[in-house]
Amino acid sequence: MKTVLAFDVYGTLIDTHGLLAELTDMMGDKAELFSHTWRNKQLEYSFRRGLMRQYQHFSVCTEQALRFTCRQLQVTLSEDQQQWLLEKYLRLPAFNDVQSALPELAEKYILVAFSNGEQRAVNSLLSHAGINQHFHHVITADAVETFKPDPVIYQHLLNSVRCAANQTWLISSNPFDVIGASECGWNTAWVKRSQQAVFDPWGITPSVEISDSGQLSLMLKDTV
Ligand code: LAC
Repeated sequence: MKTVLAFDVYGTLIDTHGLLAELTDMMGDKAELFSHTWRNKQLEYSFRRGLMRQYQHFSVCTEQALRFTCRQLQVTLSEDQQQWLLEKYLRLPAFNDVQSALPELAEKYILVAFSNGEQRAVNSLLSHAGINQHFHHVITADAVETFKPDPVIYQHLLNSVRCAANQTWLISSNPFDVIGASECGWNTAWVKRSQQAVFDPWGITPSVEISDSGQLSLMLKDTV
């Protein structure tokens, strides 16, 4: 069987800070902090819901994190503005390197989009970004009602795609995801998308580290 490459979606294929221009129009120089607080809170909510076994779709985490961020940063957005941002969140852009890297990879490997987002949201993102045709599978958290890094969801991917952990790679910019997959015996590529990104010092290291998905093909040629 071909090697499986499971791509994390938010932050790895899709730029979660892709609404910076819109946020700047709305709130000026608070936009960058707003965008980061929104993303961090969204992840925190998904982790807490996972621990509490109180699953709700990732889009609920996104919406509640948006409301939290408005309150914490004292930014007043109308209900219409918030709904508009949430609609835009379904059409966030892909990173530039993604569009060019995927076609070649899809010829050699089985590509999977693998996300904490729900099927509907992830399908919308991938098709708006024009990259959905490269994926053989879209595996999302709503099928098992828990979130990465719960081992249940990594096992769900192996069962769905019918592959073994040691023939599967997680490609992710999110250290929590890389560590989660690594602990399940997968190979991992950490996409260090910014110079400032720090990998959690848990004594676990990714199999490879790359700065964008364009380097993946080259890396895998030496490793797989
Ligand atoms: C994803 C987010 C959590 O799973 O990065 O797509």
